[in-house]
Amino acid sequence: MDPTITTIEDLRRIAKRRVPRMFYDYADSGSWTEGTYRANEADFAAIQFRQRVAVDMTDRSLATTMAGQRVAMPVALAPTGMTGMQHADGEILAARAAEAAGVPFTLSTMSICSIEDVAEAVSSPFWFQLYFMRDRAFNDRLIDRAAAAGCSALVLTLDLQILGQRHKDIRNGLSAPPRLTPSTVIDLLTKPRWCLGMARTQRRTFRNIVGHVEGVGDTRSISAWTSQQFDPRLDWDDVARIRDRWKGPLILKGILDAEDAEKAVATGAESLIVSNHGGRQLDGAPSSIAILPEIVESVGSRIEVLMDGGIRSGQDVLKAIALGAKGVFIGRPFLYGLGAGGEAGVARCLEIIRKELDMTMALCGHRNLLDVDRSILRPPHG
Ligand code: FNR
Repeated sequence: MDPTITTIEDLRRIAKRRVPRMFYDYADSGSWTEGTYRANEADFAAIQFRQRVAVDMTDRSLATTMAGQRVAMPVALAPTGMTGMQHADGEILAARAAEAAGVPFTLSTMSICSIEDVAEAVSSPFWFQLYFMRDRAFNDRLIDRAAAAGCSALVLTLDLQILGQRHKDIRNGLSAPPRLTPSTVIDLLTKPRWCLGMARTQRRTFRNIVGHVEGVGDTRSISAWTSQQFDPRLDWDDVARIRDRWKGPLILKGILDAEDAEKAVATGAESLIVSNHGGRQLDGAPSSIAILPEIVESVGSRIEVLMDGGIRSGQDVLKAIALGAKGVFIGRPFLYGLGAGGEAGVARCLEIIRKELDMTMALCGHRNLLDVDRSILRPPHG
């Protein structure tokens, strides 16, 4: 890849040129006014580091654990639906880049490639994310398939019982594969690389789902399909049942309130993710980084606290770690990388973040990520 691509923003700009508008917009949007989506990034920008000097900065280490597993740095790829529409075989390419970088990849229920497709393509275990469907037998089968494929953690998403409205997806008529209207055809003609890639692969449906769920309906309209299939009744008893069925580490995703964090602890889950779904669900909710400290304070000694939302650099990762997160997930940054350059683009995204994290930690006067705490931040956060 071009060595002058040095920021996540560089990757975003290239992805915007290469990915069909419908799928670029799907990644790069939030719900309603997008206020929470913007706050996720803006609130990181408001946090400042304490610069320290004349400290030995040799032999640095970013290694830690997430959900009990060793990671080269505290960054996992978040589950993102339709990753295989940003780039052909997107889930496989992202999983390979994550494996090479020594960080976890999380496969979404709403992926184009299936659990088995990804398991075949990588040699280390990945994580699987479950959306809770009305068809309970299907949920059980998905969990069993993830276990059979060797997935080493289950991420259960709790903040999408109903789908938050994203205006752009409605305007664009989001569907996978894209419906061929005059405007999508014109757009596709300007994205030849994407079209060629798609022409070479057969994986263009929701392969975790199609052929596996009763009454699967028409997956071309994502919002209609979601409201048909996702279970709006999901409650903490359901979470407890999933806890019983899944024997490995369970990570509860979408916690943004201290009372819910208490309930998450009570399920016996290993980890929770402070998350507002990247500003794609409840618009008007606070940013994840604003809520992180109170969740850490209330439950941090009893459950591993992870976070996601708004991370666009290694600096942001370090800020989240300083405020008590054990690790973070990135969504859009790796999708931009994927759209910009496939596997090499995801690898570049992870390399950019790794380098920024490493250098920032050093300039804050630390050599080992495990020693980082609030003291690296200036008040009011430090
Ligand atoms: C998501 N997210 C998501 N979460 C989940 O649990 N299952 C999913 O299928 C999806 N799908 C999805 C698609 C796209 C295009 C995006 C951008 C996000 C949410 C995701 O896991 C994560 O919470 C956010 O992406 C984190 O915010 P950033 O890093 O994108 O700012």
